[in-house]
Amino acid sequence: MKKIVIALDGHSSCGKSTTAKQVAAELGYAYIDTGAMYRAVTLYFLDHHISLTNPKEVSDALKNIDITFHYNPKTGRNETYLNGLNVEDEIRKMYISNQVSEVSVVPAVRHAMVAQQQKMGKRRGVVMDGRDIGTAVFPDAEVKIFMTADVDTRAKRRQQELLVKNQLVNLTDIKQNLEKRDLIDSTRAESPLRRAEDADLLDTSHMTIDEQVEFVMNKVASKL
Ligand code: C5P
Repeated sequence: MKKIVIALDGHSSCGKSTTAKQVAAELGYAYIDTGAMYRAVTLYFLDHHISLTNPKEVSDALKNIDITFHYNPKTGRNETYLNGLNVEDEIRKMYISNQVSEVSVVPAVRHAMVAQQQKMGKRRGVVMDGRDIGTAVFPDAEVKIFMTADVDTRAKRRQQELLVKNQLVNLTDIKQNLEKRDLIDSTRAESPLRRAEDADLLDTSHMTIDEQVEFVMNKVASKL
């Protein structure tokens, strides 16, 4: 059967990754969480005290960063590895969420990540979620969805996700973080977060995950 690229872009914490994972599982496609890649770069930059305003430091650091995903049968999820180390839990912490958008603004970081994402998806048969998949990484993606939801709903969902990982974070801090990231992500010069002209809009404020998956699968069905 024909293999396609499914691009799910949108605001932070509106259900992109949960939807993407289920769609990928139903289709037998690879799922690539591009946000995890920017989070892993952020972790490396913080650990190595890389100055974002020093181009040489940034480009040298990027050469030393190897990001891979491996399936963990115990957790049933694809986990993120940075230079061979499992960083899946670390990169989801608030201190990374608070820095990741500043790191993601840097053009050299974006060029390196986009090139890697294009390589990962070159044989197609992938579901990729992020901010610029339908506009910059795979402008020729067969299915493009731009997801959003009202910020209070998103903050509550994010709080629940963190709680499951035993991280207790108050709602105001989460909401501020989401709003700050959305602002930086959508106003940066290099591949900002925006809806591609040919992307379908999906507001998940009042939708269940099953309904979101169904919406995407219907779009996929029309392309296969
Ligand atoms: O998807 P997630 O919320 O984990 O993404 C974390 C951050 O990574 C985003 O807020 C954004 O700054 C950056 N990002 C990006 N481009 C992508 C995916 C994520 O700039 N394709």
